[in-house]
Amino acid sequence: MSTPRLPLPTGGDSAEPRRWFQHAVFYEVLLRGFYDSNNDGIGDIRGLHEKLDYLQWLGVDAIWLLPFYPSPMRDGGYDISDFFNVAPDYGTLGDLTRLLDDAHHRGIRFVADLVMNHTSDAHPWFVESRSSRDNPKSDWYVWNDDDQRWPQARIVFTDVERSNWTWDDTRQQYFWHRFYSHQPDLNYENPEVADAMVEMVKFWLEIGFDGFRLDAAPYLFQRDGTAGEHLPETHEFIKRIRKEMDSNYPGRVLLAEANGWPADVADYFGDGDECHLCFHFPLMPRLYMAVRKEQRYPITEILSQTPETPDGCQWAIFLRNHDELTLEQVSEEERDYLFSEYAKDDRMKRHMGIGRRLAPLLDGDRRLAELLYSLVLSLPGSPVIYYGDELLMGDNIYLGDRDSVRTPMQWSPDRNGGFSKADFAQLYLPPVMDAVYGADAVNVEAQCRNPGSFLHWLRGMLVQRRAMPVLGVGTMEPVTCPNPSVLAYVRSGTVADADPTIVGPWGATRATEPGFAGGAWGPPPAAPTVVPVGRGEHDLAGQRTQAVLCVHNLSRFAQPAELALARWVGCTPVEVLGRVPFPIVSDEPYALSLAPYGYLWFELSESGEPA
Ligand code: NOJ
Repeated sequence: MSTPRLPLPTGGDSAEPRRWFQHAVFYEVLLRGFYDSNNDGIGDIRGLHEKLDYLQWLGVDAIWLLPFYPSPMRDGGYDISDFFNVAPDYGTLGDLTRLLDDAHHRGIRFVADLVMNHTSDAHPWFVESRSSRDNPKSDWYVWNDDDQRWPQARIVFTDVERSNWTWDDTRQQYFWHRFYSHQPDLNYENPEVADAMVEMVKFWLEIGFDGFRLDAAPYLFQRDGTAGEHLPETHEFIKRIRKEMDSNYPGRVLLAEANGWPADVADYFGDGDECHLCFHFPLMPRLYMAVRKEQRYPITEILSQTPETPDGCQWAIFLRNHDELTLEQVSEEERDYLFSEYAKDDRMKRHMGIGRRLAPLLDGDRRLAELLYSLVLSLPGSPVIYYGDELLMGDNIYLGDRDSVRTPMQWSPDRNGGFSKADFAQLYLPPVMDAVYGADAVNVEAQCRNPGSFLHWLRGMLVQRRAMPVLGVGTMEPVTCPNPSVLAYVRSGTVADADPTIVGPWGATRATEPGFAGGAWGPPPAAPTVVPVGRGEHDLAGQRTQAVLCVHNLSRFAQPAELALARWVGCTPVEVLGRVPFPIVSDEPYALSLAPYGYLWFELSESGEPA
């Protein structure tokens, strides 16, 4: 498919092109699991490049690329042995720059995983550091004579590691590690380490990345008498990187992986001078809790404890990722509840969480998957989709650690799910092969041909979201409803007028459009007509207000909803998917009937015209 050369989408506020991330939908890619172009059993950069057509068709704005650096692969590549290169299994730096160039021409951005906290113990810096106590890199890592320092620091992989200190026979000292004992932490007290990391950041920015996901952001520094998380020194260092980016690479972004309580995590936004985005970890398990309890309060409670983001910042919200579904940010009682609901077999547990993918977690219930995605796409924050979840791919709980959710992408019903033509035995991991989720039943090719598939549904929702920039930048106002199973809110705010950079090059979708047909991608569909709605007038700069009412039924049974919409009296709710006008909002509670796990999005139109 030929692709138009287009400027990178700027986001809804055309005066602020740097804010693209506030409107973006991110897609997380495990390189070794995505597509194998040279049939050696391992996904690679050229393979991902070949699949850009698919990602463009799907309509995602930015790819988060998991670590691609040389590594012994004892922690999925988060154990890096060279920060300035690409692992040979994945290709070359040239392959990577070609991929980034092509992605940019298509309007797709790339965010790299940046692992600053630690290296592999095979990294030459550590090999040198451990060799003696007086070599030039001797204090590039954190060494100590005993293993008693910083007892308050929690152990992250509690099921595997007993201490954050490991004895080194050569140097006759302990070294510090927040994760596996083969991943020594770098010593940020040493300015040479901090400088080396800034150089690394600049290197990948020059290569063309649009930003970074900051792995393990909270742990860079340690201090006596603290838990060694979220320390002021850590924030200062991240701000240094941000400053470098703003000065020399405007428009690039930082996304913090800081698994903590919202108030602590919000510190990673600084005063708008630190990270642009932070994952909202506590929200994620509460989405799962809410749909099992069929009650909105787990979601409303955590949202009420979530601070406002500073101007120019945004949460990143997600249902699943490449790790276990972490239960670190829930109470013990809630954890027990979530384990009993979602990890009935002990083999589903990993570290302090659950090693399963979205679809099996939901017992394959498509309605529930749509409901959860409707939440993720409409709550405040940039959505992050985990590869394969757009197909409702399955997992393999018999694989070790988090490999259960890292199996090959399922492209077709062909050999190895169309992922690779290598011998099965050569694959980095076996594809899922069970009768329910195996590639015979769940794959891109089949879902593209099936207009009713989850893939088409999600693609259509991304188009709708793109046409409603307020979902990226608007405020969220809860709507009172006496039924506790119903969660309703209005997203509203000022947005720029319909703008091709918001709608994107791929435009709208219709369920009947061809997708993958006979081996070729269909033409990009036409852009949707975006008709301004909302309460405000256009001003001279083409700004307008937009308001979207989102209503969710968290129950498996049909539910009535009586919504307090007094603020919107006189408006016509126009249902977004069908453009069907509903009765005008009056002083009375607004009555709706919701299907089991039903969700509805309405634009609130002052004119009463269907948009
Ligand atoms: C967080 C990553 O998401 C996880 O996969 C990894 O094991 C740890 N950081 C250590 O780098």
